[in-house]
Amino acid sequence: MVMSNQIKHREQGSGAPLVLVHGFPLDGRVFDGQLAGLSSRYRVIVPDLPGFGTSQPYDVASMSMPWMAQELRSFLESINALPCVLGGLSMGGYVALSFVRAFPADVAALLLIDTRAEADNDEGKQNRNRMIEAARARGATAVVEMMFGKMLAQSTAHQQPEVAEKLRRIMSEQPVETICAAVAAMRERDDFTAILPSIRTPTLVMVGEYDTITSPEVAQKMRSGLPRSWMVTIDGAGHMTPMERPDRVNAAILKVLDELK
Ligand code: MLT
Repeated sequence: MVMSNQIKHREQGSGAPLVLVHGFPLDGRVFDGQLAGLSSRYRVIVPDLPGFGTSQPYDVASMSMPWMAQELRSFLESINALPCVLGGLSMGGYVALSFVRAFPADVAALLLIDTRAEADNDEGKQNRNRMIEAARARGATAVVEMMFGKMLAQSTAHQQPEVAEKLRRIMSEQPVETICAAVAAMRERDDFTAILPSIRTPTLVMVGEYDTITSPEVAQKMRSGLPRSWMVTIDGAGHMTPMERPDRVNAAILKVLDELK
């Protein structure tokens, strides 16, 4: 197979670039509500990370968080989108932290959404290994089974079945090689706890009230390490706040970015 090794993206609007990086095992469709809701004020750029969504085929053999940050930076430079406001959801937050550590001058503000600064502990690493084994044996379906029940607040699953259905579809459509490479990359990611105080970039930390993967306590701890930060808890959301409560997420982003003007 010939690898195109090109990050594909969607964008909408004009003005200052606002880049939103998806989580795992997902793609840029999780930010449809932000493309629609923020593009009257910003040039909203939603990439699919290497090997995910439309960014296939892609050689993901050297996948790591710093590598994804580097690939993303090269791509953003190629579309003249630097400096930018950089947002990351969950694994996208790990990429965003790597990005701001390597390229601080390229990030005007940071949005850390349902994510964490800590690396995996031993139990977490073992769970990653189990997920890789399951994915190798049974493909994306195994990962959907392991993760889906933790992604949304209960009320979202009941009251917004279309959101649950869309999320399941996005998760099911990611290729197994990318899934395995990304799980290994998350297992090996750096701990950013000690690095947070050196991040001078203004940062909004956002978390769903019912997020059980990266809880409000985890988010609060990360926020307390960041010298220029705000924190917003999104009522009624789980781990997928941008999909579950797009209007509240968009309003919180606009409020903080307005304050920074
Ligand atoms: C994500 O949503 O990107 C993942 O749950 C992050 C993780 O597993 O650490």
